[in-house]
Amino acid sequence: MEYRGYDSSGIALFDQGKLTVVKKQGKLGNLTAVLSGKEFNSTVGLGHIRWATHGEPTDQNAHPHVDCGHKFAIVHNGIIENMAELKSRLKRDGHVFTSQSDSEIFAHLIEKNYHGNLVQAVKQTLLEVKGAYGLGVISAAEPDKIVAARLGSPLVLGILPEQEGFLVASDVAAMLPFTKEVVYLEDGELVEITGEQYSISNGKTRLDKRDSQTVDWDLAEAEKEGYEHFMLKEIMEESKVVVESMRGRVLPDEGNVKLGGLIDVMPQLASAKRIIFVACGTAHYACRIGEYLIESQVGLPVEVEYASEFRYSEATLDQGTIVIAISQSGETADTLAAIRHAKKLGALTLGIVNVVGSSVSRETTAGIYNHVGPEISVASTKAFVSQLVILVLLMVLLGRQRRMTVDRAKEILRELGQLPGKIKEILQQQEVIQEIAKRYAASTNFIFIGRKLNYPIALEGALKLKEISYIHAEGYPAGELKHGPLALIDQTWPVVALIPQDSVYEKTLSNLQEVKARQGKIIALATVGDTQVKELAEQVIYLPKTLEILTPILNVVPLQLLAYYIAKERGCPIDQPRNLAKSVTVE
Ligand code: AGP
Repeated sequence: MEYRGYDSSGIALFDQGKLTVVKKQGKLGNLTAVLSGKEFNSTVGLGHIRWATHGEPTDQNAHPHVDCGHKFAIVHNGIIENMAELKSRLKRDGHVFTSQSDSEIFAHLIEKNYHGNLVQAVKQTLLEVKGAYGLGVISAAEPDKIVAARLGSPLVLGILPEQEGFLVASDVAAMLPFTKEVVYLEDGELVEITGEQYSISNGKTRLDKRDSQTVDWDLAEAEKEGYEHFMLKEIMEESKVVVESMRGRVLPDEGNVKLGGLIDVMPQLASAKRIIFVACGTAHYACRIGEYLIESQVGLPVEVEYASEFRYSEATLDQGTIVIAISQSGETADTLAAIRHAKKLGALTLGIVNVVGSSVSRETTAGIYNHVGPEISVASTKAFVSQLVILVLLMVLLGRQRRMTVDRAKEILRELGQLPGKIKEILQQQEVIQEIAKRYAASTNFIFIGRKLNYPIALEGALKLKEISYIHAEGYPAGELKHGPLALIDQTWPVVALIPQDSVYEKTLSNLQEVKARQGKIIALATVGDTQVKELAEQVIYLPKTLEILTPILNVVPLQLLAYYIAKERGCPIDQPRNLAKSVTVE
């Protein structure tokens, strides 16, 4: 399970009937070091590798978590949205928490709900929890049993050969060394396992036996869930990524958002006079989208700086300036240097980060986690989509503190909620995009063009292509072509044009005519129903209509796939491009 990212790990077993939990912060080796030489005589147990969503990576925050009476142990993959309310209620009832993790709540709730039947206690608990879980539970009260349940997080049951017993895990990868016979559990289902048998139920009804399936992957493939590369797996997760980035943060009836990580700085956000974004690479392009969003919808002045440049800035930052750092890894040295510089200049610093407990999240005053799970491929894809979603949520929050009407906010949030389905529609054009990639894989130069908030998407599309296919690619504002780059255009230069039906459609259409007149080969991303673009473009990829301010979130998806398939066609390694690292922790 290590590939899914980890910052701590642990196990729970029965040793002579006593519940024993051993857990350590850091790499798996820290846990095996503590366990080496220890003998356990146990046939029931839990194991966990943590990808933190709440609470720093520490021994206490590692799973398994136990209740006050040390009778129940749980492991959890997911997030509890109503953590605060449940935790304060349990504390009022006298429960003592030993960690900052949201997951520990499950152990105390099960203890509260246990009246002699573990399955019933777990079912009652799941009625009280809002959020996502892949959950495993064992109890000293019923030591021959494991109860597991899933909602919003994966869970698979493995059947060991020769009736040796059962495994349940978040991922097929964990069980392949032991069995290839698996039963996939569905959302809302709970499975009760003893040494001899298992039974699956959903709510009150016990379900008939479900046929098992034989996994035909090997371990390496299973970590990619059958995809050839992590990059493709992570692109294909992007519909879910939008859901995860919004989970528990949208207040549709109020036309507002709730960003837990910003609660303590809401007054400063309300009185902010200027925002400066700092980041590197793909995250920098997300900042540029943030600039368009906030300036157009909130009316706040925004600047965007390359983190590697901002760190030398002599800017004078007054109290009203907020510096926001965006970083998937949370460990990018230039971004950290920019944050430290901003703090020296007296600004409030915020972070938009994917890795919980990372340096950026610890060195900024407050922030927002992406909650999209580990991004393994060096080329950032799902994290970028999540960054854009979170910037829309931040825009609504800042907007509603200022001039944004409830109706406008509701319109934006409603359409944002439609994007997972629209991204699914785009991903179904995989083969179309693969065909286009094959036609242009031998090109040696590309230009990507877009206007307004699709200009940063042109930059990001160019970056994706160059970093994994090693083809020279540039992103340009569409209106800038005639000021020089047009001299480059001939039939050997593919031009990728972002031309949604938005407020600058006609202007971008005339840019396409300029390119066409010079035999440039146009690959256009247009809106479904557009009848003009196909007269000018060699290929058109049609995208569902959405609000102009949300078009970047849809437009980036085909560009990621285009870069992926061109790199694949060229036989590039893709997940680990030459010369690059996933997190640039050096300056
Ligand atoms: C993007 O595909 C690259 N891997 C790179 O530009 C990356 O976005 C940049 O290094 C910033 O990384 P961070 O988001 O982890 O700070």
